[in-house]
Order: sequence, then structure tokens, then C-alpha cells
Amino acid sequence: GRTGVLMGGTSAERDVSLRSGAAVLRALTAAGVDAVGIDLQDDWAAQLRAASIDTAFIALHGTLGEDGCVQGLLEIMGIPYTGSRVMASALCMNKRLCKQVLDQAGLTTPVEIRIAEGGPERYPVFIKPVAEGSSIGLHYVESVEAWQQLDLDADMQWIAEMPVKGVEIAVSVLAGEALMPVEVAPKSGVYDYTSKYTAGATAYFCPARLPAETLRYCMEQAEKAVAAAGCSGAPRVDMIVGSGGEAAILEINTIPGMTETSLLPKAAAAAGIDFQQLCLRILATAGL
Ligand code: DAL
Ligand code: MG
Repeated sequence: GRTGVLMGGTSAERDVSLRSGAAVLRALTAAGVDAVGIDLQDDWAAQLRAASIDTAFIALHGTLGEDGCVQGLLEIMGIPYTGSRVMASALCMNKRLCKQVLDQAGLTTPVEIRIAEGGPERYPVFIKPVAEGSSIGLHYVESVEAWQQLDLDADMQWIAEMPVKGVEIAVSVLAGEALMPVEVAPKSGVYDYTSKYTAGATAYFCPARLPAETLRYCMEQAEKAVAAAGCSGAPRVDMIVGSGGEAAILEINTIPGMTETSLLPKAAAAAGIDFQQLCLRILATAGL
């Protein structure tokens, strides 16, 4: 059958998705898979029908592509797809709801600070959109004055969280089993959009520079998190590990970046799974 690599889309992460999609398409094609890239733009259903694909490899990020919408469309069209199903996709795209599910499952997430009319109830806080990826819209806010200077889009939902001190790591989970944590050390100190997608802006360490027992603990937390959220495929759990080895889960990404330098491919490579094998493994998880 023919595989469609769904990419692009209309979210704020469009550019990242085009990079993920191009890398996946290249790898699948090199592996002999009959694959075609589909840059989804206006009428997604019409584009999917016209492409007459048998399986969808979703390399979309953000709104409509990672939040359960395209997953639902594919369910209706009867096209098996990679990654999480509708409900887990929608849940993980909503940072507030996902946090509640993780807290309920006994996992730790950063403390949420209520945003009152005059601003967050304490400072400093990280402010982020409830439903965006790639750190788009991330703000570190230290005071009410800084809050008043912010020009947040009132049509979007925002969440405020207490900053957590520690080492930021990403733990990818492939078929239910965590890969070695990758540590991210942004040169600017903040792992924002620029640090994520500018070559050389961040140093990566795999395994993360943490004691073996902490690595194991974080891997276990990641496995519990994706199980609690009901994810499938190859999700990636981002967390901050404090000096005492405690791990606060920032979020779960159901469709992690798949550029050749992204975190999931790095973790897979460290486990001896090259990028092409990784793409084939993910494709093999496609279902309805
Ligand atoms: N949202 C980006 C693509 C990531 O998590 O890798
Ligand atoms: Mg994300």
C-alpha cells in the first residue's frame, strides 16, 4: 500500500512540521516504502481523498494535526494512522487537562499558578499557551509590571506555572518502553523556539548527565505518563529533574519533532535505532 506522510498544516508549528515531514519522507522512500508527502493546507479531506493512501504517517505538529482533529478525520475515512488516537491526542494537546490526568495518576507536574484578573497570583512564572507546541508563546514573567507589558492573545487560553529548577530532559517512549533520556542544555538558558530549532543553540547529552538510578526513575515516570494519558506510537515526555532526583513532567508530545536532529531520533540513535529504522518502527504502529 501507499503511505502518505502528512505534514505542514496550518498551525504555528507548520515550519517545524515541514522539516519533520521531509525527513520522514526521505527516510521511508530510501527504505523502499511507497510514500508520498502531503502538505495539508485548505481542504484536508479532499487532499487526503485525492492522494488515495492506505496508511497515514502523521508528521504534523500542533493545532489540527496533533490535537485529535486529523486523527478523527482519518478514523472517519478509515485510513490507519501513526501516533496516538483521538482522545490521547486531544488530551496531550491541552496542557491543563493533561496535567490534571498526570497529577491524578500520582505523577508530578509543575505547580499551576492561578491567573487572576490582575495577573498571576505569584511570580516568577512561566506563561504558556494551553495548546501550542515548540515553546511558541512561552514567557518567563518575573513581576506584575512585566505581566502588564505582555500582550497576550486574548482569544487563546494561557496557563501559568511555577518555574522548576533543574536539568531539562526529554524521554521518548517507543512501543511502551522508554528510551534513554536526552538532556537539553540551551546556551541561552531557556529552551525556547530559537534554542530548539537553531543549529548549535543547544547542547544535547544522551544519556542525560544524571545518576543511573535517576535515569531509570525518569524512564519509569515517562512510561507511567504515556500509559496514564493513553498514548500510542512514539510520544516524548519532557520533564525537569531537580537536584534531589525528583522529576516534574512539563508535557507529553504525541507527535515529537522528527527532524534529523530532534530529540526522539537522538534517543533512538543512542539505542542503536537509526532514523530510517525509527520511521519504519513508527509506521508499523499505524492503526485505527
Ligand atoms: N512540538 C515539537 C515538534 C516537539 O515537541 O518536538
Ligand atoms: Mg510540545
